[in-house]
Parts: sequence; structure tokens; C-alpha cells
Amino acid sequence: MFAIKSGLRVGLDIGSHAIKMVAAEKGSHGKVKLVQALSRDLYTGQDKYDADGPKKTQVVPLLLEMFQELGVRPKRIAHLASCIGGLNQAAKEIRTIQLSNEDMASSILQEARKHVPLDGSESVVDYQIMGEDPKEADKVRVIVAATTKRQFDAHVDMLREAELKPGIIDLEPLAAANSYLGHVELLDDGVVVFLNIGARRTNLLLLSRKEMFFSRDLPVAGYNFTEEIMKKLNVRFDEAEQVKKTQGVSVKPAKTTEGAGGYEGLALAEKMAMEKLGDEINRSLRYYVKETGQSFFTHMEVVGGMAECRDVMDYLASKFSIEVRAYDPFAFMEGVRDVRHRPQYAAATGLAARATAL
Ligand SMILES: Nc1ncnc2c1ncn2[C@@H]1O[C@H](COP(=O)(O)OP(=O)(O)O)[C@@H](O)[C@H]1O
Ligand SMILES: [Mg+2]
Repeated sequence: MFAIKSGLRVGLDIGSHAIKMVAAEKGSHGKVKLVQALSRDLYTGQDKYDADGPKKTQVVPLLLEMFQELGVRPKRIAHLASCIGGLNQAAKEIRTIQLSNEDMASSILQEARKHVPLDGSESVVDYQIMGEDPKEADKVRVIVAATTKRQFDAHVDMLREAELKPGIIDLEPLAAANSYLGHVELLDDGVVVFLNIGARRTNLLLLSRKEMFFSRDLPVAGYNFTEEIMKKLNVRFDEAEQVKKTQGVSVKPAKTTEGAGGYEGLALAEKMAMEKLGDEINRSLRYYVKETGQSFFTHMEVVGGMAECRDVMDYLASKFSIEVRAYDPFAFMEGVRDVRHRPQYAAATGLAARATAL
């Protein structure tokens, strides 16, 4: 039988907590038209969250289920864009003289190996040209992205197992940023703090028209808050997740055991996740100010599942005296009606947009 290819564009973000998928098609005036947005939590029931990331055996059945819900067989998807999250990845900006495409590729890849620190094993490198350098006319801004070959191969293997044909493969922080940069004009002055707060990691990006692009992964995110609630309330993972979503992360234990030994003792012994997150962000911002001399941070745009956590958003606003917004990555798409938990889909929408541009 002939395999009839589907015209659908699929952006797929296999996260550490949930799989997010955005199926789209070409809309009018170069816009992207949403067909369906789907997500599946990787840990349900009493499953304990695995900080090392989900296993192939967990992911593949869920992927198949999602494509079934979409009504298309995975092997019929001709335009897929997916992303790699996880630990061993990095992105960095370099500014280089404009060269022919071929020379550009080899020169950038050489540079990249010097600049992008990974674990020393074999790496896979890619780059994206961001446009002219507003500071030096003959140069261009290039974002170099790298991951380890091991991680890359494992990702491809996971896709193949689900009968998906690998297409564009991006890094998660860049995919999430693309959902924003594709639509929003960066101002001449100031830097946008773009945070993708998932379960295992927070990707912090500093985006600016003129200054250096900056990306760092912070080791504090949603799971740290869930773990804290598990300890505070002495509940299981899935119960703590429920509490987090309905009551927020700042819940107090019902029976406060005053004095030593109770939760108060725990609070003193360990820094709370909220504060840790704040400290990590602060450290990155300070580093950036030192490197660039630019200290005007205009506001924070937050995506990822934790963008729906009101108390985290409020904490960041007050700690940094800055406006903190949850970014809706569907804002510029056609055909969007009843999609819930929108910020969680940032990377998947960014990927769907890239797949649509093919
Ligand atoms: N409505 C919500 N309120 C609070 N936290 C949420 C909500 N929805 C998801 N989260 C949290 O966001 C995290 C998952 O976000 P996500 O961006 O999907 O992570 P990942 O990309 O690592 O899979 C989890 O820690 C989850 O508990
Ligand atoms: Mg994520």
C-alpha cells in the first residue's frame, strides 16, 4: 500500500514530566494554524518521578496513544520537529563575519567546539543565524547549540521506536524561545528574562536585540517544589502534585508541630526551593551584567508547567521588582480555541512553527 503522507506539522516536546505535542498546518498570511494540542503526564498514579528522565518504554506507548488521539499514524508524519531537553546540552552566541554558507558552517562548527562545554564526549553541533550584529555591520549573530552524541542518538532512537521519522531536532530552551522570538520584536534597549520552568530544570534565557544572547540551565524547577510538599505534608508524589496545582507551593502542614523536629526544623536546615530558584536566577543575572554591562531587565516571560504557579510568579516579581508574565505561545496562532495550560506548550509550539516553515 502507498503510505500517504500527512500534511500535518508536528512539534513534539518530550519533557521530564510531560509529553507535549502541537499539531498544526499552514494558515493564512504565513501564520500557523492549530489543529490540536495534546499532552500526557509521564507519571500518574503512584509513580515516583524519575529525575534521570523518562525511559523509552514509558514514552513510546504514550506517544502512540497521542497520535491515535490525533487520528494520524506516526509514520505518516512527514514534518516533525522535536527537541532534546536534559542535562548535556548548551547554547551560546557567537558573532562572526558573514561568509558563504559552506564556509560559515565549517567555521561555526569549529568555533562551537571551543565554546560549548559539554561532558567531553563526542558532540552534535548545530547553529541558527539570528541576523545582523547591530553593533558591527559586517558581522552576524549566530546561536550555536550542542548536545552529546549519546543524548542525540537516544532521542532519535525513541522517535524511531514510535515509528516517527526524525526531522528537525532542536534544544528545548531554543525551541521554547522560538515560540516567542518568532512574534515579538525585541526592543533596542533592555533585556527580556525568558524562563522555561519545567519539572527538572529551569532554562533561563536572556534575550536582547543588541546584547549577547545568554542561556543557562538552572537545577531548580517544578519537581523541587513537589518534593518539598511531599516532605511537608508527608504525602505521595501524585498527591503532592495535586496540592501544588490546586493550592500552590506555599502550603503549610495541617498540624504544625511547633518547635524542634517538625517542619520548621526542616525549613531551617534546607533552603526552600523558591529561594533556591531566586538565588540561581539572581546569580545568572549578575553574571550577565558583569559580562555585558547591561543591567536593564525589562520584564520576565515565563513558560513551562510552572508558569501556572501563582505563588512562584509573585515571588519572582517581588524578589526582582520586575513585571512577571506567563507567555501564551498560542497567542499568534490561528484556530486556537479551548487549549488549557498554554505556557506548558511553549517548546512544542515553537517546534510546530519551525516544522510549518519547511
Ligand atoms: N497548573 C499547574 N500548577 C502548578 N504547577 C503545574 C501546573 N501544571 C504543571 N505544573 C508543574 O509543572 C511541571 C511540568 O512542567 P513541564 O513544562 O511540562 O515540564 P517538563 O518540560 O520538564 O516535562 C511539573 O513540576 C508540574 O507539577
Ligand atoms: Mg520542558
